Amino acid sequence: MPERLAETIVALWTPLIILWITLPTCVYMAPMNQAYTLSTGSPLELGRQSEELRILNRSKRGWVWNQMFVLEEFSGPEPILVGRLHTDLDPGSKKIKYILSGDGAGTIFQINDITGDIHAIKRLDREEKAEYTLTAQAVDWETNKPLEPPSEFIIKVQDINDNAPEFLNGPYHATVPEMSILGTSVTNVTATDADDPVYGNSAKLVYSILEGQPYFSIEPETAIIKTALPNMDREAKEEYLVVIQAKDMGGHSGGLSGTTTLTVTLTDVNDNPPKFAQSLYHFSVPEDVVLGTAIGRVKANDQDIGENAQSSYDIIDGDGTALFEITSDAQAQDGVIRLRKPLDFETKKSYTLKVEAANIHIDPRFSGRGPFKDTATVKIVVEDADEPPVFSSPTYLLEVHENAALNSVIGQVTARDPDITSSPIRFSIDRHTDLERQFNINADDGKITLATPLDRELSVWHNITIIATEIRNHSQISRVPVAIKVLDVNDNAPEFAAEYEAFLCENGKPGQVIQTVSAMDKDDPKNGHYFLYSLLPEMVNNPNFTIKKNEDNSLSILAKHNGFNRQKQEVYLLPIVISDSGNPPLSSTSTLTIRVCGCSNDGVVQSCNVEAYVLPIGLSMGALIAILACIILLLVIVVLFVTLRRHKNEPLIIKDDEDVRENIIRYDDEGGGEEDTEAFDIATLQNPDGINGFLPRWGMPTERWEERNAIQTGCV
Ligand SMILES: *[C@@H]1O[C@H](CO)[C@@H](O)[C@H](O)[C@H]1NC(C)=O
Ligand SMILES: *[C@@H]1O[C@H](CO)[C@@H](O)[C@H](O)[C@H]1NC(C)=O
Repeated sequence: MPERLAETIVALWTPLIILWITLPTCVYMAPMNQAYTLSTGSPLELGRQSEELRILNRSKRGWVWNQMFVLEEFSGPEPILVGRLHTDLDPGSKKIKYILSGDGAGTIFQINDITGDIHAIKRLDREEKAEYTLTAQAVDWETNKPLEPPSEFIIKVQDINDNAPEFLNGPYHATVPEMSILGTSVTNVTATDADDPVYGNSAKLVYSILEGQPYFSIEPETAIIKTALPNMDREAKEEYLVVIQAKDMGGHSGGLSGTTTLTVTLTDVNDNPPKFAQSLYHFSVPEDVVLGTAIGRVKANDQDIGENAQSSYDIIDGDGTALFEITSDAQAQDGVIRLRKPLDFETKKSYTLKVEAANIHIDPRFSGRGPFKDTATVKIVVEDADEPPVFSSPTYLLEVHENAALNSVIGQVTARDPDITSSPIRFSIDRHTDLERQFNINADDGKITLATPLDRELSVWHNITIIATEIRNHSQISRVPVAIKVLDVNDNAPEFAAEYEAFLCENGKPGQVIQTVSAMDKDDPKNGHYFLYSLLPEMVNNPNFTIKKNEDNSLSILAKHNGFNRQKQEVYLLPIVISDSGNPPLSSTSTLTIRVCGCSNDGVVQSCNVEAYVLPIGLSMGALIAILACIILLLVIVVLFVTLRRHKNEPLIIKDDEDVRENIIRYDDEGGGEEDTEAFDIATLQNPDGINGFLPRWGMPTERWEERNAIQTGCV
C-alpha cells in the first residue's frame, strides 16, 4: 500500500528540493521518486495518515504532498519534531544550509539549518489557526547562493478532541398543550462543537435526556424533543424541567459533553367542566328592594384557566324565573342574581331557582367527557318590609261641572297599607298643589269635596296631589296625583267676536253686504258653537237693513235700499241679538254702528268724515291716526314759516298795523275753519314779534290761499 501511494505521488510531483519529512509520532514523510524519501512513523499513525492521503489524493490538488502535520495541544518537555527538509543535492558534506520563512517561521517553527529538522516550539491550537504556510530554501553554506528556487509547503495542525459541545442558546423554554398525544414535538435544541467537523468524530454530537424522563424524549441526532407520555395534565403538573446532554465522539465513552436545561410548560386546554362550589345557595331579600339590585352571587369553579374557565350563567328552571335574572360577571367569573320585578312578601315568601353554569369555549375533543356545565339550586327568601300605603290607582282623573254645589263630593281616592299589620290610613291634600284651597278631602274615606266655586272659563284643570299616611307609622307616606277637570256649563252668553265698525257706501246698491260679523262664546259646549242671530223684535221690519246667517256661523248685514246719504243721516245703530245653543240657551244684544260714507265707483270707501269733528265714539284707529297726522303737519308748517320769517325779517320790523289786521281778517275768511284759525293763533302767540314779521313772509294773499288749500287736501 505505501509503495503504491508513493508511486502516485512521484508522478504528481517533481520538485528540485527534496522534502525529507520524518514523522516521529504523527508526521509522515512523503517519499518522492529519486529525490524524495518518505519516512514513516509508527504503524498506527501511518495507517491513519495513509487514509488521509487517499482522501487528499482524490481531491487532485497540486502540491498536496507538500504538507506536514502537527498535532495540536501537544505539550511535551521537548519541542516536537514536525518534519525534515532534505535535498538530494546534499551529499552529506556540510555545504548546504536550510532556511525557513513564512507563517510562524522562527517563532513557532524552528529549523535546524544543517539537518533540515523543523520543530514546533510552541503549543498549537487548531481552533485558533488550523494551518501555516511556510517557504523552504536550500542555500550554499558558504556563498549563501540558492541552490534551488524557494518552495512553499504547509504545516497543518491536526485536530484532537479538545472542545466540548456547547448549547449556546440555552437554557430553553418551550410550551406544549396539555393532553397532547404521545410524540408531539415540543421544540429542538442545538449544541455546537468547536472541533474539526470533517476530521474524526470530535464534533459528532449525540443528544440524550438526563432528566425529564419519562415525560419527554429526544431524538439523538436531530435533538427534537417530543412528549413521551400521552395526556399530560396541566391541572396535575404544569411545568417540567428537562436536562439535555450533547456528547461528541458520536456519544462514545471518552467523548466530551455539554448540558442544558429546557423548561416545558403545559398550556391549558378546556378539559375540565365548571363545578358549582355549592349545590344549594340561600339568599334572602327584603320585599322592597329596588329593581336591579344584586341579591346574591353563585360561582362555578373551573380548574382550567383563561377563557377555558369562562362560564355563562342562566336560570333554567324554578318558580321565580319571571322575577329574577342572572348575569355573568366575566371579571369575577361568577353569576349575579338580580331582581327584575317587584317582590311582595304578602303574596309569596320564597322562591326557588335552578341555575346553570356552562363553559363558553368548549373543546370538541373533550366534549365527549360529558356536559361542560353544572347546575345548582338557589333558594330566595323574601323578607317583610314596612311598606307605605298603596293607592288603588297610580293616578286619578275626576270631572266636575263648574256649577257644582259647594261641599258636593267630586270623587274619592282609596289606599291601603300592604303590610300584614295593616294600618289605617289618613288622607290629606298637598296644599302646595291647591294653593287656593279649592278642595277638601275627608281624612278617613278619601272623598274630595268642593270648597270654593269653580269657573271653567278661569281654569279647566285643578291638578292636586293627595297624601296618604299610615296612622301607626307617620313616616309611611304615599302620594298620588289627582287631575280634576272642570266640565262646561252654559253660563256665558255669546257676543260679537270683535269691535266691528261698518261702512255703508252712499252709492251702494240694494242688497250690498255692509259687514260680516262673527260671534264668540266663552263656554265650551261639547258639540261646538252654533249661534242664532236676530234683530230686536221691534226692528224685525227694519226698512234700512236686513241680516243673513252664513254657513260658517257668521252673519252678514245687508243694505235694503240705496240712496243712503250722510247729509241726511250719517250713522245708523243696528242692535243684533245673538243666542247660543246651550240648554237653556243664553243670548245677548250687541249693537253694530254703521257709518255712511262716500265711496268710489268700485265701492272703495273714500270719505266718511264730513262730521268728523263730532268724534263719534266708534272712531276707528285709522281715522284717529289721520287726524293726528293732520295736526302734526299743520304744526310743522306753522313753526317752519314763523322761524323763517324771524330769520329774514328781523330788521324790517314795523310796517303798519292795518296791514297786519288785514292779513288776519283775510286769512280767517279764506280758511273758514277752526283749525286754521287756531294754527294762526298759535304761531302768533309763539312769536310775539310775529305780527310784524308775518306780512313780508307771505307776500300776496293768493299765495297763502293756495298753501292753505294744499294743507286741507292733505288732511283729507
Ligand atoms: C292636569 O292633568 C291633566 C291630565 O293629566 C293634563 O292633561 C293637564 O295638562 C294638567 N294641567 C295642568 C295645568 O297641569
Ligand atoms: C231708516 O232710514 C231713515 C233715513 O234714511 C230713517 O229716518 C229711519 O229712522 C231709519 N229706520 C230705522 C229703523 O233705522
